[in-house]
Amino acid sequence: MQFLYSVFVFALFISYNPTICHRYNYTPEELINNHLFFLEPGKNVFSPYAEPISYPDKCELKQLHLNTRHGSRYPEWGDILEYDELEKVFANVTIAKEWYKNPFPMSKQFQLIERGELEAYFDGIQCRKRYAKFWEGLKYDPEVIKFQSSATSRTGMSAMAFSEGVFNGMGSLDTCKSQPVYISSIPSEQDSVLQPYYCTRFNQTVMNIDKNQYLQEQIYPYGNQTIKPIAERLSKEYNITLDPKLVPAIFTYCQFWVTLYNRTDTWCSLLSPEELLRCRYYYDITYYYSLSYGHPFNKRMGCAYYTQLVNEVDSYLNGSSSVRADLKDSHGFTLMLDLTSLGLLKEKFNLTADLPLEKIKNLRSTIYTTIHWSTTLYFEIYVCSGDNNDVKVRALLDFEPLPIPGCDGEYCDWKKFKEILGDQIGCDWDEMCAYP
Ligand SMILES: *[C@@H]1O[C@H](CO)[C@@H](O)[C@H](O)[C@H]1NC(C)=O
Ligand SMILES: *[C@@H]1O[C@H](CO)[C@@H](O)[C@H](O)[C@H]1NC(C)=O
Ligand SMILES: *[C@@H]1O[C@H](CO)[C@@H](O)[C@H](O)[C@H]1NC(C)=O
Ligand SMILES: *[C@@H]1O[C@H](CO)[C@@H](O)[C@H](O)[C@H]1NC(C)=O
Ligand SMILES: *[C@@H]1O[C@H](CO)[C@@H](O)[C@H](O)[C@H]1NC(C)=O
Ligand SMILES: *[C@@H]1O[C@H](CO)[C@@H](O)[C@H](O)[C@H]1NC(C)=O
Ligand SMILES: *[C@@H]1O[C@H](CO)[C@@H](O)[C@H](O)[C@H]1NC(C)=O
Repeated sequence: MQFLYSVFVFALFISYNPTICHRYNYTPEELINNHLFFLEPGKNVFSPYAEPISYPDKCELKQLHLNTRHGSRYPEWGDILEYDELEKVFANVTIAKEWYKNPFPMSKQFQLIERGELEAYFDGIQCRKRYAKFWEGLKYDPEVIKFQSSATSRTGMSAMAFSEGVFNGMGSLDTCKSQPVYISSIPSEQDSVLQPYYCTRFNQTVMNIDKNQYLQEQIYPYGNQTIKPIAERLSKEYNITLDPKLVPAIFTYCQFWVTLYNRTDTWCSLLSPEELLRCRYYYDITYYYSLSYGHPFNKRMGCAYYTQLVNEVDSYLNGSSSVRADLKDSHGFTLMLDLTSLGLLKEKFNLTADLPLEKIKNLRSTIYTTIHWSTTLYFEIYVCSGDNNDVKVRALLDFEPLPIPGCDGEYCDWKKFKEILGDQIGCDWDEMCAYP
């Protein structure tokens, strides 16, 4: 009798105690290492070390071009609005009592956080170490070493942190011998190089889901077939009415709780490992069809960036420019579009709604799986002695050489590189972006 009674009580406990609902335990590291977030996996994020590069003896690194994403930041306004919605939906959910309220105020939207300052600073230190020979004897001179950021606080602050990493201890200011640097920027709507998404045609067609049929064809079925059942499971388990549109927001919420508070026991704990991955893939699809190969217009969206890069290299080569390093701080969107224009990181398949889970797991070409906070895209320009003073270019993402389709090997002939870019060099941005 005693035994039966406790079985009965236990059964009651299972059906009514919400803490028995499927909650998942994760460590921050395991989520980060599974390539779920914009956070860089591995220990080298905050490392002051980097192996100096080696390159063929007869070559000399002459010019360095960097385009880096800013560091970790607060959520954007769209996320914050969704978190306000989730706050209402989860208001009476017992297990969420401690954390259902949105801790991210709108006044902080998009702002760099301390982690982001450190990421950019260590990237600067690593740049100095990795290109030790290049920097040797190069003193800061605003005509020779150019810093540029887009006109946002997060990129401006990241560029400043990066410059500290490069020139720390070599300037004249105070005990730390800081070096003041000039970081230029131009108004966002004119900045076709660092904020190309202000292109009106792009904004009105590619970024507008009602006009982007490539995106619609995948994201709506994915929403109905894959995301909706997750909303139904959570609704049933927690006795709530959860709009499927808010499910991916639980995933980004999870990410920001890890990023800002190192906590996985809040929103992350609601989703299973597979559901987390499925939610990430929701964004993979979204960005594939809006910033990458999923939309044909995007093949040209990096043309302003490459036009200025090519001009800067050619001007240096013909002796009319003294620029040695061009260090730019921009955005995940910008980097995705620049990779796409050059055909870098292209999968052999399209990111469709029915892509098998195994393939989703192994993706390393999407914004979530490659362009984490403070990712660096370098173009190294070499001049090699030989028959006719060959000029070579090499592309690297987070110091990993990226094969450029159409080139033989990782050191690409400069003429070939320009051929591959074709008429993107010198593109007429205003004409291309005019809409309608
Ligand atoms: C939460 O509970 C309060 C008080 O019982 C009720 O007024 C409110 O509608 C509930 N909210 C939700 C989202 O169920
Ligand atoms: C894009 O278009 C939307 C409305 O269609 C507008 O509100 C927004 O300001 C535009 N964004 C940019 C970056 O031009
Ligand atoms: C389901 O499909 C319809 C029609 O294609 C679409 O309007 C809706 O947004 C989809 N639902 C989700 C959750 O994506
Ligand atoms: C579920 O929520 C509704 C109101 O939102 C409430 O009337 C009902 O009692 C709840 N059911 C359980 C089992 O808690
Ligand atoms: C984050 O939490 C984990 C344990 O969950 C701990 O090992 C790690 O040191 C923490 N990291 C930071 C930056 O506090
Ligand atoms: C050097 O190259 C740049 C970029 O191609 C060009 O605009 C400029 O006219 C060239 N100058 C000379 C002196 O050849
Ligand atoms: C990907 O989609 C494009 C546009 O719909 C199509 O032309 C192409 O053949 C597809 N590629 C593959 C590998 O299915």
